Amino acid sequence: MYRPVAPIVWRDGGVEIIDQTKLPEELVVIRPQNIREMWEAIKQLKVRGAPAIGIAAAFGLYLGVKDSRARDKGSFLAELKAAADYLATSRPTAVNLFWALARIQERVAASEYQEVDELKEVVLKEALAIQEEDEAMCRAIGRNGAELLRRAEAVLTHCNAGTLATARYGTALAPVYYLAGEDKVLRVFVDETRPLLQGARLTAWELKEAGIPVTLITDNMAAVVMQKGWVQAVIVGADRIAANGDVANKIGTYGVAILAREHGLPFYVAAPSSTFDLSLSHGGEIPIEERDPEEVRCWGGRRTAPEGIHVFNPAFDVTPHTYVTAIITEKGVIRPPYTENIPRVLRGEGRG
Ligand code: MRU
Repeated sequence: MYRPVAPIVWRDGGVEIIDQTKLPEELVVIRPQNIREMWEAIKQLKVRGAPAIGIAAAFGLYLGVKDSRARDKGSFLAELKAAADYLATSRPTAVNLFWALARIQERVAASEYQEVDELKEVVLKEALAIQEEDEAMCRAIGRNGAELLRRAEAVLTHCNAGTLATARYGTALAPVYYLAGEDKVLRVFVDETRPLLQGARLTAWELKEAGIPVTLITDNMAAVVMQKGWVQAVIVGADRIAANGDVANKIGTYGVAILAREHGLPFYVAAPSSTFDLSLSHGGEIPIEERDPEEVRCWGGRRTAPEGIHVFNPAFDVTPHTYVTAIITEKGVIRPPYTENIPRVLRGEGRG
């Protein structure tokens, strides 16, 4: 399988991330020095995409406690919680962030170690494990998704759910990379994804690097691409999936799902188990981030709308489960009825 670039690496005792706000013009690697710099990197989308946000938060937590002077486990755990609570304020929608922070705190609390230096090592090891497991999950999503796309010639995707959004390989793009490894090359139609152009800047960049044929379109061109019969499926990632299969993903995903239904195309969501939030019964309960109105009023430092004009700028929308043909996970492909099949497949009890 083609091995695309990893957006986050642990190197020489520090964390390095590709600054995704600089792509595609420059490939700049930054080293957040402390928890505040990691919080800002997440908030400003230097690192973004649900699984990558979880990994970044995990390393951010280590940065937050690595110089702790706590004298005992109890006070170390209190510092760890304060650091996790701070990172949790960076972005609200991708559940992977909260999942990673909770997982590390639970691991440290349950650890047999009592020495603070040993507990710091537990935090780092767990962050590295989260990263390693994410890469393995994405590989498995690639393998499972490949079975659904083997007969397609082209797919359409929205936003970036590729290697840049995960430890490596991506979720929605993992089957594309997997099939390319078998000499089955799919063309990918990429929505540019307003307002921040993750499709144009990031998905187009990483697919081009991989030698995968790409056709970039603006968001309002997806309908005509489907009408012309140029794609046989839509595949997207997810930021949070509720117990009934409702999917929060990048703003515009819901519209693409409606278009896919209208044109008789399968609408696939690819996501690791860390993106499911079974505590929420439906998508209406998913917190949706609203971002700075200037992201809509301006582009590239230039004003594209009247100053101060009222703006609605949600970063995500919720696609009702009724539009979702299947959810591709590392444990298998989940099909409706989701309320029954999601927990079953996530428990490892066979396909949905
Ligand atoms: O605002 P972003 O760029 O973090 O939004 C990313 C998305 O919506 C992705 O599709 C999603 O996180 C899945 S990434 C595998």
